[in-house]
Amino acid sequence: MNDMSGMRVNNHPILHPQDGRFITICLDGQPLPAVEGEPIAAAIYAAGYRVLRRTRRRGDPRGIFCALGHCTDCTMEVDGVSNVRTCITPAAPGMQIRTPEREGAQ
Ligand code: FES
Repeated sequence: MNDMSGMRVNNHPILHPQDGRFITICLDGQPLPAVEGEPIAAAIYAAGYRVLRRTRRRGDPRGIFCALGHCTDCTMEVDGVSNVRTCITPAAPGMQIRTPEREGAQ
């Protein structure tokens, strides 16, 4: 799952990935490679993951949908902050990313 040769975002209208320098972020306690400055969601996708969260009521999987910060499909917990849009949030060394819990799910 951690194949760094996966597709990367090299040209983004909002974010500006740094010179291809690989850093390490953490997803649910596991180290994950990312290019510094690329969208967090891009790093997660490049590692092979497609589900970023699940809907509250039915548990339906959600991943990148708009990739522009307009929907909330990619929201995750980042460094203790809930509901962060990971498609427009740049990856930085040591970031702690958590898959949101399904509050109220039964
Ligand atoms: S995928 Fe829509 S806000 Fe991130």
